[in-house]
Amino acid sequence: MSVRFIALLLVAVIGCRSSHRDSAGRASRPRGWLDSARFATAEREADQWLSAGRTPYEQYYSPLDRINVRNVNRLGLAWEYTARSARGRVQHGMQATAIVVDGVMYVSGPWSVVYALDAATGRELWRLDPKVDGSYPRRGCCGVSSRGVQVWRGKVMVATVDGYLIALDASTGKEAWRADTFIDRAADYTITGAPHIAGSVVVVGNSGADFGVRGYVSAYDVETGAFAWRFFTVPGDPKKGFEHPEMELAAKTWDPHSSWESGLGGTVWGGMTYDPALDLLYIGTGNSSPYPIWFRSPNGGDNLFLASIIAIRARTGRMAWYYQTVPGEIWDYTVTSNLVLADLELGGTTRKVLMTAPKNGFFYLLDRATGKLLSAEKYVRVNWASRVDTATGRPVVTGEAWYQKEPKLIFPSSFGGHNWMPMSFSPRTQLAYIPTIERGMIFSSDSSFKFKRHHIYQGIRDGASEAVATRLTRGDTSLLHTHEFLQAWDPIAGKARWKVPLVGEFNGGVLSTGGNLVVQGQADGHLVIRRADDGRVLKDIEVGTGIMAAPMTYALGDEQYVAVMAGYGGGLGSRFHPGNAAYRHENYPRILAFRLGGGPVPLPPARVEPEIPAPPPVESSPETVTRGAQLFGRFCNYCHGAGNGMISAYPDLTRLTAAVHQQFRAIVLGGALVSAGMANFSDVLSDSDADAIHRYLISEQRRAYEARGRSR
Ligand code: HEC
Repeated sequence: MSVRFIALLLVAVIGCRSSHRDSAGRASRPRGWLDSARFATAEREADQWLSAGRTPYEQYYSPLDRINVRNVNRLGLAWEYTARSARGRVQHGMQATAIVVDGVMYVSGPWSVVYALDAATGRELWRLDPKVDGSYPRRGCCGVSSRGVQVWRGKVMVATVDGYLIALDASTGKEAWRADTFIDRAADYTITGAPHIAGSVVVVGNSGADFGVRGYVSAYDVETGAFAWRFFTVPGDPKKGFEHPEMELAAKTWDPHSSWESGLGGTVWGGMTYDPALDLLYIGTGNSSPYPIWFRSPNGGDNLFLASIIAIRARTGRMAWYYQTVPGEIWDYTVTSNLVLADLELGGTTRKVLMTAPKNGFFYLLDRATGKLLSAEKYVRVNWASRVDTATGRPVVTGEAWYQKEPKLIFPSSFGGHNWMPMSFSPRTQLAYIPTIERGMIFSSDSSFKFKRHHIYQGIRDGASEAVATRLTRGDTSLLHTHEFLQAWDPIAGKARWKVPLVGEFNGGVLSTGGNLVVQGQADGHLVIRRADDGRVLKDIEVGTGIMAAPMTYALGDEQYVAVMAGYGGGLGSRFHPGNAAYRHENYPRILAFRLGGGPVPLPPARVEPEIPAPPPVESSPETVTRGAQLFGRFCNYCHGAGNGMISAYPDLTRLTAAVHQQFRAIVLGGALVSAGMANFSDVLSDSDADAIHRYLISEQRRAYEARGRSR
């Protein structure tokens, strides 16, 4: 080999590592190079997918039309990447939408692991595991999923479930800087949301309202990671002063004797969008903890800024405007669904709008410069409010929904009419495609409510006695079941153009394209492509893995790809429902990319039903078993629980082997499995508590074991 050849090879290798030549052969730019100027014209770069929703408008729409209604029946697998975690047996869901910049795909998965892949082949370029603390799954409601990364000026930004905002070098995956975003590491904060770029800062929110934390977002300089500003979404105890002027305004809407110690929630775990032209960052806030206002702010009040959309000036961190969707919120009606920007023709003029379909069942159109409400129409069955008064911007709350004195059947449920799964807006059809959930829920006030740290204490019960449930539903308990559909919503007319039922629960987010297509992954493991204008199914690909994330699309040269993160799990998916793909197949995170003329998708291996090992010969009093069942319900059920025909993603604790029975105390009180996500419970459970839970589980195992013997 000549010296010259080696030198050339070196140049080629180094060149490949750090820069990219685009398909037209124009000058190369460093890997992951996206800045304000480029992002502002993202609309013109149809081949790229530059942020979660592709452009600053975050519409989950691409103008690409090489795959379209005429040829989509030829869509098949281009490549697959398995993101199965080695950290434990439980595989958490994929919830992110990937970003593709200049031929490289960046995405985050469970345990906040970040992947950089060659978008043409799926080959791994680098992978960064931030090795998050294994005790965090217990602090969150909803598993260790991650809703994505943001790429900016050669860095990939991720927020880890244990609260760090990390910037990675887009070429190598090496850490450039990290910031600790938690103000109180003893409180149950977690992060599942994606960071969002707003001008020269990167902004990150958090989760944890159901565990009693105080919501806020923090901003850091994109280049250095230096702290820039923090915006709290609910006030702290006024006696301690206000961190910023907006808190003084907000505190006037709370009882001075509010339960300040419970943090009061308002966390920003989803929706964030930034309009560079207006320099406004839009954030959507969550529910409170506890849910009932009679427990947290006994004299009432609007309780700002719960369930609100807030516009913040990215440069200063000061509020420009706010709009509260649910004053005095008590139903977990968060505004954590995606916030989509569009320029719509309304009454003869083009208005810069923000639209969102939050949990509360109304589809909102706001003027995004001023926050003025333009319209709010019901996109799903709603009974807590009859309408929203556009003059005052306030909902007209009905008597049907106040559950302080007696249980009430309320629509939508606390899962919402639409949850975090992104909706898509197509400027081509002028329709918003909403993954919609229709379901009622019986809210009962939990009179025994008392705030305790490290407990899920929402202050409500989901359900009521059978007699009350029968009365409220008039015997039709199907009202309490989930009915899902995909609907095409006309935001200007305020009504649905088409609506199709879906099977399964918690179906995925949506992509729409210039090829007149709407693409959605389903809980039953099918990727379904419909005509955007009438909803007709054009292609149905079984992938065998439940899908929650919204798909995306990009092009390399002449080839257009559609890619989706598959893998079911998270708050809405740690239990697998009949019909869900995980009922039949092993559920683990995968990234699937499709192209015209691609091949079939290999189905994952069949799921194996655990055997029922013989239980240890232990006798327990009925009182102990009952106490154990109650403790299980409070501390273990939200992960290990199943029933009602569902199976849990977590080990079935009524099927333990003799070895695990022996290890029970070491696992539950000694933290033997912490790194796999099974936390240590010694701070909330005594020896005798753990023993009671164990005895309850043994009695359940015995019952199942004996039933098996009888049926043979
Ligand atoms: C935040 C979710 C979460 C909660 C809550 C939780 N666990 Fe776990 N648990 C896990 C995970 C994850 C595993 C599997 C760890 C692994 O892969 O080894 C596990 C495993 C176990 C195992 C071992 C099972 C086996 O077959 O090896 C036992 C025993 C157990 N948990 C008991 C409990 C008890 C008792 C409670 C309530 C006090 C509880 N867990 C609450 C997440 C949870």
